[in-house]
Amino acid sequence: MTKGNFYITTPIYYPSAKLHIGNTYTTVAADAISRFKRLSGYDVMFLTGTDEHGQKIQRLAEKKGVTPKEYVDEIVAGIKDLWKMMNISYDKFIRTTDDYHIEVVQKIFKTLYEKGDIYKGHYEGSYCTPCESFWTENQLVDGKCPDCGRPVEKAKEEAYFFKMSKYAPKLIEYIESHPEFIQPESRKNEMLNNFLKPGLQDLCISRTSFDWGIPVTFDEKHVIYVWIDALANYITALGYGTSNDELYKKYWPADVHLVGKDILRFHTIYWPIILMALDLPLPKQVFGHGWLLVDGGKMSKSKGNVVDPVVLVDKFGCDPVRYYLLHEIPFGADGMFNNEIFIKRINSDLANDLGNLLSRTVAMVEKYFDGTIQAPTCKEDIDEELISLALETPKKLEDHISELKIPEALDEVWNLIRRANKYIDETTPWILAKDESKKERLGTVLYNLCESLRIVSVCISAFLPETSEKMNLQLNTDLVSWDSVASFDGTKAGAKVKKGEAIFPRIDVDKKLEELNKLKEEQQKALKKKEMKPIKEEITIDDFEKIDLRVVKVLDCEPVKGAKKLLKLKVDLGGEERQVVSGISKYYKPEELIGKKVILVANLKPVKLRGELSQGMILAGSTNDDSELFVGTIDGDLESGNIVR
Ligand code: ME8
Ligand code: MG
Repeated sequence: MTKGNFYITTPIYYPSAKLHIGNTYTTVAADAISRFKRLSGYDVMFLTGTDEHGQKIQRLAEKKGVTPKEYVDEIVAGIKDLWKMMNISYDKFIRTTDDYHIEVVQKIFKTLYEKGDIYKGHYEGSYCTPCESFWTENQLVDGKCPDCGRPVEKAKEEAYFFKMSKYAPKLIEYIESHPEFIQPESRKNEMLNNFLKPGLQDLCISRTSFDWGIPVTFDEKHVIYVWIDALANYITALGYGTSNDELYKKYWPADVHLVGKDILRFHTIYWPIILMALDLPLPKQVFGHGWLLVDGGKMSKSKGNVVDPVVLVDKFGCDPVRYYLLHEIPFGADGMFNNEIFIKRINSDLANDLGNLLSRTVAMVEKYFDGTIQAPTCKEDIDEELISLALETPKKLEDHISELKIPEALDEVWNLIRRANKYIDETTPWILAKDESKKERLGTVLYNLCESLRIVSVCISAFLPETSEKMNLQLNTDLVSWDSVASFDGTKAGAKVKKGEAIFPRIDVDKKLEELNKLKEEQQKALKKKEMKPIKEEITIDDFEKIDLRVVKVLDCEPVKGAKKLLKLKVDLGGEERQVVSGISKYYKPEELIGKKVILVANLKPVKLRGELSQGMILAGSTNDDSELFVGTIDGDLESGNIVR
């Protein structure tokens, strides 16, 4: 008999680059919840996957000289390896390039078009390519992308739109009458007040400027643009819209979509509206967790400031990483990933509290009873506190997880672990062992410890599955069901414990920290090198001598009418005046350049740009992504016309 069905999803990640510890965080959290629900009697469907279309992936593939599909195949293989390494128990992995997904997304698009909820128009807006997001003017921060801070491009093209506004009143009413729908609570208000109530704009849902996407069947130059394609995964994965839709019937609506707060808007506004338009039930809950920060900023694939989970698992094992993510980050708020805190937590919570409790207990059973667990025949009052806590803990755990309070759930287990350690100090088995008449009491104390450890093992099995298995081996128990922790008698007298290696060896903090810091430096260097544009073909000094570089002073500067990117400079070349047109208006206001001494390529063949004569070129340096640019200036007493070599 199951307690019911439970359907949980993670976002489907962009396979634009290897996943980092931030993406891993969401998936580990979803895994812990899934495992816990399975353990406590639910029939669980846990979905994850990858969101493979879009301009950014197309560009990355072009840069690498492979097809987009080849590009994503390689990264998806790496993602699946990562999930194996992290012990992720997903039931299904969906790729938006899967045939069944593509077909159903096309069907959905057509249905909505025929219904009149989709219409053709023009899109105009500011577009951030790395984030694949269009922004309205008032969403921009200092004219830049509000998510990543990089410059945005103006874009206009024919596009299909979804009539979001039509459904807004219905959605507002739904959100207000279903307080559990958007969690945590604070995010609900943010969605209502910042997005829904000021009025929804219609959503652009197709593109013609690239083709790596799902084609619109009735207008093939359009591909369906990210969000309809991506969000639909939650139902296409269950076979919705096909003849084989039993999973859909069984599991939809989802119990929880777990997402980062960066995409909460898409999941609590666009997705419910798409579902309303399709006459389908809405997910029961969307939970937006916080960001994992490094050095104060959000970690992200497009920023490159990432912590690599593979390195951490290689060095420390999977469960320490899971523990840190699940316990250290308040679920729903932002948290830090910090190497030092990570290592210290392993030593204190895992090695000291849990590891020692297990190794001391097993060692004492071996030493005093040749490894055989004794029947608890000699109870004393002092046992009650431990036993009642051990029996309350699973219930508290269940309550916390039902509210997705993962760190709080782990705190309950660690309370029990610490209580059991204290019980050793209180009962002093090593003193009992000196007195033959206390043998039964000693056997009982050790039984209570073994049974507490067994309960701990069952309780942590959803969070630290590998550790739980190692504990069961040492305790020699296979009683791991949720029912078995409802009473304090699952450990079998007569069973033999098996001492094994320390489940969490202590770590030399300074040594490991140094290793990690060194790795981080190397990673940053490698990244810089990777981003650097390749050095051009070798030339000789004679080739270089052909270029005539001169110092010039900027006399005047103004924008070129009708050309947003261009500035027109008047420069003094030692008695001769030249006009130079330069594509730097994004980076300089005209008055910032006047009076500067800069370097001119003086013998470049003149050209006309937007009807303006340009007699030469000004030298400038820019960042790899062109987000910043500075003209090269000369200080010192050089005069206009002086040669630069
Ligand atoms: O947004 N801290 O994919 P994505 C915590 N394809 N979580 C983080 C994080 C951080 N620093 N960085 C990323 C997409 N995440 C779309 C989703 S769903 C229909 C389509 C996690 O690869 C967090 O869960 O950018 C966030 O929502 C997700 O990764 C975004 O992954
Ligand atoms: Mg992202």
